[in-house]
Amino acid sequence: MDGKTMAIEAIEEERKRLARDIHDGPAQLLTNLTMRLEVVKEMIKYSPEKVLPEIARIQDLMRTSVGELRRMIYDLRPVEIAETGLISALENYAQRCQYLTRIPVMIVAETIIGPLPDLLGIAFFRMIQECITNSLKHAHASQIDVHVSYHKHSLIARVHDDGVGFRKEDTMSQGFGLTGLHERARLLDADVQIESIFGQGTTVILSLPLERQLDMLGVVYHE
Ligand SMILES: Nc1ncnc2c1ncn2[C@@H]1O[C@H](COP(=O)(O)OP(=O)(O)OP(=O)(O)O)[C@@H](O)[C@H]1O
Ligand SMILES: [Mg+2]
Repeated sequence: MDGKTMAIEAIEEERKRLARDIHDGPAQLLTNLTMRLEVVKEMIKYSPEKVLPEIARIQDLMRTSVGELRRMIYDLRPVEIAETGLISALENYAQRCQYLTRIPVMIVAETIIGPLPDLLGIAFFRMIQECITNSLKHAHASQIDVHVSYHKHSLIARVHDDGVGFRKEDTMSQGFGLTGLHERARLLDADVQIESIFGQGTTVILSLPLERQLDMLGVVYHE
């Protein structure tokens, strides 16, 4: 498959994923809310004392779906790596996630990361973003840590959560995220290592070799 076909396929994949996210998330919550409101209409007649607590639960659900929608919209925004740099883009993203989910997301840069070619930076950012999103969505973590460092001509991002962990064999038929992560890694010559201990959390290590890519672009990068 050539680069163009792969790019078109990636776009199609994203659209499917977005459709599914809207279907599984906000659309389902709205259907659920409509049904619950029907029940409330009956409650008013027959057990009015139950109405207030039910309205409070409905409000909770609505808050969750608004938060989810906001995060989805935020995830879709283009990132300007060239202007802000990878680390600031990650810091902004982490801050926003933390605000929406109340789960602390820490970004630690162990080295000063020089400017990255835009597309390379964006692709790497999207990979890190998928790992953070997975930790936020699935891990029930109390903390997410992202370490970015530069080692042996590779940019390394380590995304760690202290959540529930998972077994690879249990995830085969779910989501596009991890498949997309490996796909992007293949396109960038990057490497993905997932270490997850059931009940103890997950660490994903992404390494992006820069030597060859930067050589091709004539960019000098110091360790
Ligand atoms: N950090 C994590 N903690 C716990 N479980 C995880 C974590 N990351 C992934 N998983 C599990 O692996 C599954 C597959 O992840 P993947 O990113 O491919 O799909 P998804 O997140 O469910 O959907 P999508 O990424 O397409 O929105 C998840 O459904 C979840 O069960
Ligand atoms: Mg995912």
